[in-house]
Amino acid sequence: MTDNNKQKLAIITGANSGIGKETALGLAKSDFKVILACRNLDKGEQAKEYIVKNSNNNNIVVEQLDLADLANVRDFAKRINSSIKTIDVLINNAGGIFNTLGYTKDGIEQTFGINHLGHFYLTRLLLETILASAPSRIINISSFGHFSANGIQLNDINYEKTGYRGFKAYSQSKLANIYFTKYLASKLNPNETTVNALHPGAVRSGFGMDGDLKGLYGEFNKLIRVFEIPSSSGAKTPIYLATSDKVDKVTGQYFSRKRKGLLSPKANSEKDARELWEFSEKLLAEKGFEVPPLN
Ligand SMILES: NC(=O)c1ccc[n+]([C@@H]2O[C@H](COP(=O)([O-])OP(=O)(O)OC[C@H]3O[C@@H](n4cnc5c(N)ncnc54)[C@H](OP(=O)(O)O)[C@@H]3O)[C@@H](O)[C@H]2O)c1
Repeated sequence: MTDNNKQKLAIITGANSGIGKETALGLAKSDFKVILACRNLDKGEQAKEYIVKNSNNNNIVVEQLDLADLANVRDFAKRINSSIKTIDVLINNAGGIFNTLGYTKDGIEQTFGINHLGHFYLTRLLLETILASAPSRIINISSFGHFSANGIQLNDINYEKTGYRGFKAYSQSKLANIYFTKYLASKLNPNETTVNALHPGAVRSGFGMDGDLKGLYGEFNKLIRVFEIPSSSGAKTPIYLATSDKVDKVTGQYFSRKRKGLLSPKANSEKDARELWEFSEKLLAEKGFEVPPLN
């Protein structure tokens, strides 16, 4: 039986900055207990201070999580699964775009590794707790940028045969977020756990600002900032998907501005979504990080 009066718990990755931080603030204002999953604990503590001050909610916890390190993801999930019984909302928000080719600790191209694979692994490890917390919600922050991807180059994920471009890798990783959303949603009962993706808008956050985007791309990213919306506006759709009764049984969808968003034709490919799912499981197993089976 569900206790509607109990305090809900949300985990948000990359919650120390931009959209993740403002989403955490919004959920704190709605009286959620929020776990800020941040790779840098100092930045996480600063975000916690900001959220507590602006929400008057003291139930904010910082936990260290580096999505570019699968052993770290496994340890994070172990700590969470052993210390809490309920996860009402998981928001896979952390992400980046990188001008130069780089790799995660496990030797996976970092855009795919952080934006997709780290979150895929994290979600699979937390899934039992999330399912046991039904009704529960999983929300994946994708992007309109997925439109630029004409599929995901699973045959050359580390760019050994093809040239690397930051935006190409980014758009593929955001298409991966949608495939993951749709495939996982198709496996779960929407009366219990929903899975949705979203585009937050073009947001004036830390995105591409910390030296990851250099040269012309970096300059362009700075120039367009005046036209972008603040992070608090970018947080509106994730907060809506986490809290609104209007979407309590809606699953497998892609949202923008709190409405169904426009997907690229490629993003609707069930075959590609299944291939990414199988590829991700196999890659994790090859790296020594098996995922629990999905019953
Ligand atoms: N800004 C936009 O216009 C826009 C548009 C569409 C989609 N998005 C998506 O929105 C999401 C949030 O981005 P944002 O705009 O809020 O940018 P942001 O301010 O740069 O925030 C990104 C967050 O991700 C974290 N992160 C990066 N790598 C990580 C790792 N290996 N492990 C754990 N955390 C990591 C960052 O932590 P550090 O502070 O330690 O780096 C930061 O907290 C991303 O998924 C992005 O793709 C953004």
